[in-house]
Amino acid sequence: MDAQNTTLSVQLAVKTIEVRKSLSRIIQKFDGLTLEENTDSPWVDILVLEIGSNPSAEFETIKALLQENVVGNLFLTSPKTTADILLPALRAGAREFFTQPIDVEEVKAAFQKVKDQAHNQNTVADQTVNKGKIYSVLGAKGGVGTTTFAVNFATSIQARDKNKSVALIDMNRLVGEVPLFLDLETDTNWEDIGRNISRLDAAYLQSAMVRHSSGVYVLPAPGKVDTEKLLPAGSLFQVVKSMRNFFDYIVVDGGMYFDENLFKIFTESEQIYLVSILSLPCIINVRKLQQSVFAANGVTNGRLRIIANRFEKKAQVSLAEANKIIGTDISATIPNNYALSMTAINNGKSIADVSRNSNIARAYSQLAESVADSGLERAGGIFSWFSKN
Ligand SMILES: Nc1ncnc2c1ncn2[C@@H]1O[C@H](COP(=O)(O)OP(=O)(O)OP(=O)(O)O)[C@@H](O)[C@H]1O
Ligand SMILES: [Mg+2]
Repeated sequence: MDAQNTTLSVQLAVKTIEVRKSLSRIIQKFDGLTLEENTDSPWVDILVLEIGSNPSAEFETIKALLQENVVGNLFLTSPKTTADILLPALRAGAREFFTQPIDVEEVKAAFQKVKDQAHNQNTVADQTVNKGKIYSVLGAKGGVGTTTFAVNFATSIQARDKNKSVALIDMNRLVGEVPLFLDLETDTNWEDIGRNISRLDAAYLQSAMVRHSSGVYVLPAPGKVDTEKLLPAGSLFQVVKSMRNFFDYIVVDGGMYFDENLFKIFTESEQIYLVSILSLPCIINVRKLQQSVFAANGVTNGRLRIIANRFEKKAQVSLAEANKIIGTDISATIPNNYALSMTAINNGKSIADVSRNSNIARAYSQLAESVADSGLERAGGIFSWFSKN
């Protein structure tokens, strides 16, 4: 991102026509500000709100807006500047208060302050923090071993380097099983974190996420659908994206949820692992997904890695046949060992922790090696303590 070119969105909730006009004029002339007309927009950087005839109700709205995390900065304006308006306005969380008629210089200075701050934040983020890498894991069909792959891939990356911070996110709303696989109990899921996205820092994440004995931090999926708590579309993507500031590696168990969030996560993913088994219906699904979903979302063969799970030499479809049907080579195979994979799940452990020298553990370790080689060296920085706790 080019920090110099940060553009901030501004929305006006102003009824008085003259005030609205003069604010619009300032915004239109101000380099780096855009006027957001869409009132359904999930986020605005600055909201200018006019306090009118019913201040107490309006203050309640303000509190809700700030809590719901849809507004970055709140500016208020009112024809009255009496203490009964000003004090509750500031207590409610307003950053600036504009008197009326609008003083152009005062408003410009307030916008400039927010712009400078955004610029500084971006510069710090761009210069001092190397972004973590995202690896998405998807299933060509249900039950093929997607969660097993995500869990063991993440724990193998962590095992390779204890000093790196590794996160594992379960996208499977209602049917998420990552905590079960790792025998973890937690109340916090990505929906809670999405609601607190403005607080997303290392300390908050560390308290909100649950850590497995392998060292991997887990972020579970919501176990229910609470329509009142539903996040705006695309918010999970924002959570994952922000987490890149705090983790070296982020593994996403995307299951089979091909939704808007996942498509956006694809665009940021280093690699996308499509887990399949060597059965004809599954292989055909791989081909279909490759031609439709992945092609449409700009995921080229370089980033898409097809994994043949539960691999046996004498399978229904041979590796060579599968490659032919799909039109791309399968990148890696994970040997079939049902008993071992179940022992790991039933004990809340990784496969390597149950049997380090097993052929499955070695396959995962090689995969971890392949991403770590192209891995980044992060500066120890502010989040290095993540790995020490
Ligand atoms: N390499 C393997 N060898 C044998 N069995 C395996 C292997 N990997 C996973 N399994 C088994 O496959 C079953 C399904 O695994 P898992 O839950 O990881 O799949 P999934 O694709 O995430 O399923 P769902 O669609 O329900 O989310 C489990 O019983 C697991 O033990
Ligand atoms: Mg699963």
